[in-house]
Amino acid sequence: MTHSSLPERIRRDFPILSRTVHGKPLVYLDNAASAQKPLAVIEAQREYLSNYHANIHRGAHHLAQLATEAYESTRQKIANHIGAYTTDEVIFTAGSTDAINLVAQSWGRTNIAEGDTILVTQMEHHANIVPWQMLCEEKRARLIPIAVHPDGTLDLDDLDQALRQHEPKLVGVVHASNTLGTINPVEAVCRAAKAAGAITVVDGSQALPHLAINMQTIGCDFYVATGHKAYGPTGVGFLWGRKALLNAMPPWRGGGEMIHSVSFEGTTYNEIPHKFEAGTPHISGGIAFGVALDWMNGIGLESIHHHETELVHHAQSALETIPNLKVIGTANQKVGVVSMVVDGHHPYDLGTLLDGQGIAVRTGHHCTEPLMAHMGLSSGTLRMSFAAYTTREEIDRAVIALERAINMLN
Ligand code: ALA
Repeated sequence: MTHSSLPERIRRDFPILSRTVHGKPLVYLDNAASAQKPLAVIEAQREYLSNYHANIHRGAHHLAQLATEAYESTRQKIANHIGAYTTDEVIFTAGSTDAINLVAQSWGRTNIAEGDTILVTQMEHHANIVPWQMLCEEKRARLIPIAVHPDGTLDLDDLDQALRQHEPKLVGVVHASNTLGTINPVEAVCRAAKAAGAITVVDGSQALPHLAINMQTIGCDFYVATGHKAYGPTGVGFLWGRKALLNAMPPWRGGGEMIHSVSFEGTTYNEIPHKFEAGTPHISGGIAFGVALDWMNGIGLESIHHHETELVHHAQSALETIPNLKVIGTANQKVGVVSMVVDGHHPYDLGTLLDGQGIAVRTGHHCTEPLMAHMGLSSGTLRMSFAAYTTREEIDRAVIALERAINMLN
């Protein structure tokens, strides 16, 4: 199979791709915001809700057992997928944002003190900035950004200097940028941070759908990702952490499931991973997230990444022919994201005109306002983002529609 035949083989798995929008066939290029769902994922949720819905980890009955087994099988699938040593290191969360807040509120509140420093890159999503900012405010610590080069790559010299100068307690880095597409050298960042004595948090939200990831190779201390960008449901994701760190961390949210024993004299807490999983989780989402991982692995992350790399090259060379258009983020190593600006035109106006032609893109700052400010892009960008099912023909249609939109506004 050539990589460009990949969409042909899998598009029929996605019912939504055959719909129209404003009377035009849908061209869905907003996958970095959320990917569409294959039938297997949709069916897994329907099957659970129709046939074996029950709460997990607590019922003595048959349905509870079936639901628990299905939900826990996803924990195992995540552990296998990311090369975790044990399932105990995989905490279910509501998504990446929730997972980073867990680390900030649990590890952060016990380990960060007045005068400490946290480093994050200038290309982080707000989810890997604001929780640290809130923690720094509370603890009177400092949050310092690591610079990004104009081509959208990370400034590793600035990282080295900041590690030496500030001796940070923690370094946060996004594995792949949702705005620029840049794949960061997270292994090198984690190695340097570790040598400087810092804990590392890697935001893998945009890496999980596009790249094979392995915790032992990356060498981080915490890794987070979300299901819905990786063909799974919204409202479910995970935190992976080193066992010794997770064991030493206090629980964050209190409630059922996370306890060992409760009395008014005092409460003792459950073991990891349950210590961090208070309350009834998104059970159907968790089950279907495992099915999404199976679906991706059935295709193979290498094939997906290869296909999307071809799409990025195809899109970037087609877009180059449009006068006054500039691609923002031209790193050699990218996931399927192409951001752009067109002189004299607001990204939102262009996005709205594309929508009228059935083409779904995202416009604005993409939850990376500090990056946009650093790059001097106060109106943000127009972003096309790809998935395994995206075709070259769809990109060609989007480029023609963009030219038409520009001509309408000129
Ligand atoms: N973080 C998501 C995006 O990039 C919502 O669109």
